[in-house]
Amino acid sequence: MNTPNYKEARKRTKNEVEIREFRIDKSLVELGLNKKFFLKTYGCQMNEHDSENIKGMLRLMNFQETFNINEADFILLNTCSIRENAHNKAFGMLGRIKHLKESKKNLIVALCGCMAQEEGVVSLIKKKYKFVNFVFGTHNLDDLPQLLKNSFEDKKQNINVLSIEGDIIENIPVKRDNQYKAYVNIIYGCDKFCTYCIVPYTRGKQRSRRREDIINEVNNLVKNGYQEVTLLGQNVNAYGKDLYDDYDLANLLIDVAKTNIPRIRFITSHPWDFTDNLVDVIKKYDNIVNFVHLPVQSGSSRILKLMGRRYTKESYLELFDKLKSIPGISITTDIIVGFPGETEEDFRETLDLVEYCKFDSAFTFIYSPRENTPASLLEDNVTLEEKEQRLYKLNDLINKYSKEANDRMLNKIYKVLVEGESSKEGMLFGYTETNKLVNFKGNLDLIGKIVSVRINDAKSFSLDGEIVE
Ligand code: 5AD
Ligand code: SF4
Repeated sequence: MNTPNYKEARKRTKNEVEIREFRIDKSLVELGLNKKFFLKTYGCQMNEHDSENIKGMLRLMNFQETFNINEADFILLNTCSIRENAHNKAFGMLGRIKHLKESKKNLIVALCGCMAQEEGVVSLIKKKYKFVNFVFGTHNLDDLPQLLKNSFEDKKQNINVLSIEGDIIENIPVKRDNQYKAYVNIIYGCDKFCTYCIVPYTRGKQRSRRREDIINEVNNLVKNGYQEVTLLGQNVNAYGKDLYDDYDLANLLIDVAKTNIPRIRFITSHPWDFTDNLVDVIKKYDNIVNFVHLPVQSGSSRILKLMGRRYTKESYLELFDKLKSIPGISITTDIIVGFPGETEEDFRETLDLVEYCKFDSAFTFIYSPRENTPASLLEDNVTLEEKEQRLYKLNDLINKYSKEANDRMLNKIYKVLVEGESSKEGMLFGYTETNKLVNFKGNLDLIGKIVSVRINDAKSFSLDGEIVE
């Protein structure tokens, strides 16, 4: 049994990162014959992509996916720890599964992902959720096949979570959810240690994939007709720093652009590592989308310091203005309200910053104390009522600017990657480079293609348009 350990998870050394190839023992590939799995994913794109790897492994083992939980022989929850409500959802689901298991004794239940890396969660599972067969973490995704086999043979609870800096595992099988858009990991982990954030403890140290592995993956996607790739990392702007002397995200983007994949996105950017060269590269290459997600978290330099963000309101705005010099750019952000000690004045500064930046959209959150993080030791002196009022006010402003950004698109023509049929009959839907949802009339054979659409109606969260030749 290996249980999580925060002291180990916090360690950062200069030790070289091991790169392993995924291997599976032949004896495991028939384990899933005539068996079905149900996988529920919580959290960010990293987790969604891990789930695509999980599905790839399960498919290799001949399991079939089901979306009906009652039919499943194996249920797996891929969990998120970023805020308390992500926890609540996963524990709520475990409650449902407990009832299922009472009537279906052979059902195998497992939990993985970020929550598995938390000391508190694992000790609760050991005490109160004994029906969970096994738990594995973010560092040993590739142990799934063996752990699954063990639990079919032995019903004892098995906790196998590693609190290490982390390796890189190449060539885990993947079953992608989308035929046209793909996620590609470029960097794992995080060394920023923002004081509110649990990710550096759940995902290990910052470690970049080799550039040739990334380019090979993108070349294969191009061969298979993919139109868009999203380069993924907790902090993509740190790409290369741990691996190369003179090769960073800007260099990688140039090499990915040369594969001629029509669209390249990258998330998420930390303002700290955003170089001028990177701004120029985004400007220069047509297939690097004019879209940057640039979390600000707060508009108050005092709160940013308490958050350990390493930039001030002024330096954020300086970067923001540079990015705004890129024609047609869309910038989105993340904002936390109610961080410990946040005063009305601090919050006012956040609203002022939003008024200045007029973000195309934003994810907004109420601060949620996370186990073991430095901020969780600060006195949480903002009442829930105040936090909710601030969130409400902030969302009002964000929605106003989202609608204005959509209105500015009226009567203009945009490239849209068509993804499928919309819920309205005869209509298709797709996304612009700047990730705006567009509905329009068109034939099914356009699905998977990039078409030009003139926008003729702007709503708060979507646009309507018509195809132009
Ligand atoms: N409480 C609230 N929001 C958080 N985020 C990260 N940690 C917390 C927390 N403890 C938000 C940040 C981050 C996004 C992914 O989640 O805004 O950018
Ligand atoms: Fe993703 Fe962070 Fe949630 Fe983990 S904790 S799933 S890395 S958002």
